[in-house]
Amino acid sequence: MGTIKDLYLTNDNSSRKGSGNSDYKETYRPQFHYSPEKNWMNDPNGLVFYEGEYHLFYQHTPHDTHPDFGRMHWGHAVSKDLVHWDELPPAIPPGEDGAIFSGSAVVDKNNTSGFFDEQGSGLVAIYTNDGNKAQPGKSQVQSIAYSKDKGRTWTKYEGNPVLFPAETLDFRDPKVFWYDESSMWIMVLAVRDRVEFYTSPNLKEWSFASEFGSDISGIHRGVFECPDVFRISVDEDSSITKWILMLSVGDRNGVNPNDPEPPAGGSGMMYFIGNFDGKVFTLDETLDSFDTTKWVDYGSDFYAAVSWNGIPNEDGRKIWIGWMNNWRYATTLPSKEWRGKTSIPRELQLRTYPEGLRLIQAPINELSQLRKPILSLQDLTIKPGMNVLSDISAAKAEIIAEFEINTAVEFGFKVRKSSNQETIVGYNVSNGELFVDRTKSSTIDFHSDFTAKHKAPMKPEYGRIQLSIYVDWSSVEVFGNSGKTIISDLIFPDLESRDLELYAIGGEVRVVSLQINDLVSIWGNETV
Ligand code: FRU
Repeated sequence: MGTIKDLYLTNDNSSRKGSGNSDYKETYRPQFHYSPEKNWMNDPNGLVFYEGEYHLFYQHTPHDTHPDFGRMHWGHAVSKDLVHWDELPPAIPPGEDGAIFSGSAVVDKNNTSGFFDEQGSGLVAIYTNDGNKAQPGKSQVQSIAYSKDKGRTWTKYEGNPVLFPAETLDFRDPKVFWYDESSMWIMVLAVRDRVEFYTSPNLKEWSFASEFGSDISGIHRGVFECPDVFRISVDEDSSITKWILMLSVGDRNGVNPNDPEPPAGGSGMMYFIGNFDGKVFTLDETLDSFDTTKWVDYGSDFYAAVSWNGIPNEDGRKIWIGWMNNWRYATTLPSKEWRGKTSIPRELQLRTYPEGLRLIQAPINELSQLRKPILSLQDLTIKPGMNVLSDISAAKAEIIAEFEINTAVEFGFKVRKSSNQETIVGYNVSNGELFVDRTKSSTIDFHSDFTAKHKAPMKPEYGRIQLSIYVDWSSVEVFGNSGKTIISDLIFPDLESRDLELYAIGGEVRVVSLQINDLVSIWGNETV
């Protein structure tokens, strides 16, 4: 079990590393995204806000850059602002009980679990043990652990496991939250081709409530993983709410190999809008048809995202974070010291459009503290062959732009560019498509499926296209039309590939406004 070290108690405004040995300048190291100092990470786990700290636990193999599924730990980092992170020692290690797979954490405010008799409240983690031997043939079970010291040390409950599968299928990734109306804990669990809901008064005893998803056709190519369910306001009006069910669908081992892949191939994420009554999730049939899957992200690299529990009502935001990766090639990524990183944290909203309710994702406001303005301009016409950004050099950047469609058939930005590398973030007017083309993003070739162009349907709104683009040393996240359409992709350009281009093809496009900022490294490794 980890112990807190003075090293991690920082007051200044930069992130801190696990051992403190890295300067976080290694090739491809993300500068404003979280990555563990060393070795493997996958899914975010146990996201919870507690006593002024955001906790980020995650699937972690602290001894290897490859996932050692038999010895998976919960890694741990904390933040006061969701931007700067202090990496703490791994929180929950594997043992006789098996590996520690994905799960969630809750604040047990009223000591329903009975773990916190002296102090009245504390944190409880609910996770999957993989490889558990408590009942023969049922190797994926749910277990709990509790912490009385703000997540620094954890004690596994002696009554573990707390939930066994009815069948011996995939049975994992519990997301637990408190449901006020029935004063019950709710667990949503991924069970191969469905999610199952369970309820509990105390986090120790769980009763089956309902299941969802096995009868929806077309979504069973991969096995379901890492579900999340939460209530959310419609159009920021707190009097009207809906429930969203988030689901990750894996790259393989699904029920129906003929079902379509997620838009960018491999593993991906979808969402469902409906209602939840404490036991049953019902699709909002007036807004959803069973055969239209709503994709969370049209890029290749946003997976296993889950939302934070415990964010105070005064704040009221729904914030989540994903693993920026894809199981298709995750174990082959070319970084050497570590492998895996998170997305930027995103605020979620539900908005009404002519075609119905749609999920909106926006980078959290806290990121604006990293801004160092590079350029700001308004009202400019871009013609083929010109590049107004030829003086700018940027290995990381925030680009916020609004375009008015004119005669150009395609326009956009080329980022991380050099004579032989470029990543294109563009809009194809004729096809009505936002895209990220990373076919020339790097000169290394580590997996044939990595070299791809990812497209997302996106219509202009009032003749305009809005783009917010976040470029880091090894990724690009594109939020189209104020976060309605997203493409998140890893890229691995040389650090020297820093040129920027604003281009138009086949005609003109009007730039209504453009702002380019550097985002200062969160690791305190550059002169501000
Ligand atoms: C999703 C996942 C989960 C599992 C974990 C294992 O990426 O496959 O279903 O709990 O990773 O690391």
